[in-house]
Amino acid sequence: MPQAEGRVLEIGFGSGHNLPFYNDKKITNLIGLEPSVSMQKLSKKRLNDSKVNFEFLTASAEEIPIKTNSIDTVVCTYTLCSIPNPDIALSEISRVLKKDGKFLFTEHSKSPDVKVSKFQKRLAPIWKILGDGCHLTRDIRGILSDSGFNIDSTEDMYIPGTPKFIGYHVWGLIRK
Ligand SMILES: C[S@@+](CC[C@H](N)C(=O)[O-])C[C@H]1O[C@@H](n2cnc3c(N)ncnc32)[C@H](O)[C@@H]1O
Repeated sequence: MPQAEGRVLEIGFGSGHNLPFYNDKKITNLIGLEPSVSMQKLSKKRLNDSKVNFEFLTASAEEIPIKTNSIDTVVCTYTLCSIPNPDIALSEISRVLKKDGKFLFTEHSKSPDVKVSKFQKRLAPIWKILGDGCHLTRDIRGILSDSGFNIDSTEDMYIPGTPKFIGYHVWGLIRK
């Protein structure tokens, strides 16, 4: 989050978990895109405690009501797993980002290990219900790459102390 700067768009703002980690001195304004008004309400305390110049945008990442080439940084954490059509969302993210703009993301992903990915596949239907639409088997690097993002700068690992089926993470800062 401290790498976000300028006009920032956070996709799937949720209850504002990332808010305390932004550097308010580097951000002119933060737009929190969040389709769920009940999630927006959960961020009230964090918003009250924050100095960031903030506004909500009640919309889906699949149709972002923001001008083309107008955002310096897009942030997306644990939301590419929930958006029904992540490929459409990523093309929208690319559209609103300025040339050389930053795309900061982190996500759990389909594991590269066959045994783990088989288990993810078995668990996926029930996980989707329990996790409010969360997909366990999305190959995040593949989706990013198919959407034209350069994934060379991304990193990955199993987060220590988490079960492998949800612990395999991909993250990075991608320049448009
Ligand atoms: C697991 S939560 C993550 C919240 C937050 N980004 C975080 O890291 O704590 C997923 C969020 O994605 C939002 N979401 C679901 N569908 C979406 C869509 N089509 N466009 C944008 N956000 C969406 C949900 O409402 C929810 O707030």
